[in-house]
Amino acid sequence: MASLLNPQHILSTAQFDRAKIQDLFLRAEEFSQRDWRETCPTSFNCKVMATLFYEPSTRTRFSFEAAMLKLRGQVISMESAGQFSSAIKGETLEDTIRVTSGYADVIVLRHPQNGAARLAASVAKVPVINAGDGSGEHPTQALLDLFTIQKELDAIDGLEIAFVGDLRYGRTVHSLLELMSRLNHPRVHLIAPPELSLPQNYVGMLKERNVAYSISTDLSSAISKVDVLYITRVQKERFVSAEEYEKVRSVYTIDAHVLAGLKPRSIIMHPLPRVTEIDREVDSDPRAAYFREAQNGLYVRMALLETLLGS
Ligand code: NCD
Repeated sequence: MASLLNPQHILSTAQFDRAKIQDLFLRAEEFSQRDWRETCPTSFNCKVMATLFYEPSTRTRFSFEAAMLKLRGQVISMESAGQFSSAIKGETLEDTIRVTSGYADVIVLRHPQNGAARLAASVAKVPVINAGDGSGEHPTQALLDLFTIQKELDAIDGLEIAFVGDLRYGRTVHSLLELMSRLNHPRVHLIAPPELSLPQNYVGMLKERNVAYSISTDLSSAISKVDVLYITRVQKERFVSAEEYEKVRSVYTIDAHVLAGLKPRSIIMHPLPRVTEIDREVDSDPRAAYFREAQNGLYVRMALLETLLGS
């Protein structure tokens, strides 16, 4: 695959045009179908990926690390970096990135501050991948989400999608909306309580791009129409007070009753982790796509790493 980005940082979904997305998905599809040893003639055994995570993670860090290992690259890893890196001694993010740039060929960064990945990229000598910056963006999650939609529904255009839950702080929602709003004729339903409504800059983006959208607090308002029901966890860690969080913590739950109202060919997605948003009884329904979605993260991240490190 040709070089994806110039400069090769992955900071936002806005960097991915349709051609790049299609190239990436073709390769991810190959990784998902064949044994990785056969599909990866290039060995990255001299390449090192650093994962630098200042916030908790299961899927993102493990799937990035597994992706690099399956490409036969090497991994150095720092979790709880706020506590266990020199940040605790007062080192700035920029200095940590400058130094890590000398040890690794690519840096995967998760940080609680919006814009942290952009700041890191401004001083890095190697590609920086934004693995979530506060309530900003999570571009690689959006790519694997869109890949999942294509794989499950055999289409990415003309779809009707409901975003449900924490649209205010949910960075995966922000990134996926950015991607979807550039496709052909998406119809979007934004379902959230007022406290968790989508930030105005994203509503403005939908208007500018002439995307048909509705805003509601009522989950049942759109359920019978959607192809994709994308629900998120209420992002507890972003709230300034516990009381504010308590007010909205279990605001929507997908259960058998909601399932009954969904179209037979629709899918339920969730970036995970789920807390109370999806009843366990939903897991066995074929429309529950969230664990397949998490699995796709491996293939999409393999394709991304191959693109960044292979050229
Ligand atoms: C999401 C995140 O970190 O933004 N998780 C993930 O990467 N799959 C969603 C969340 O934490 O709720």
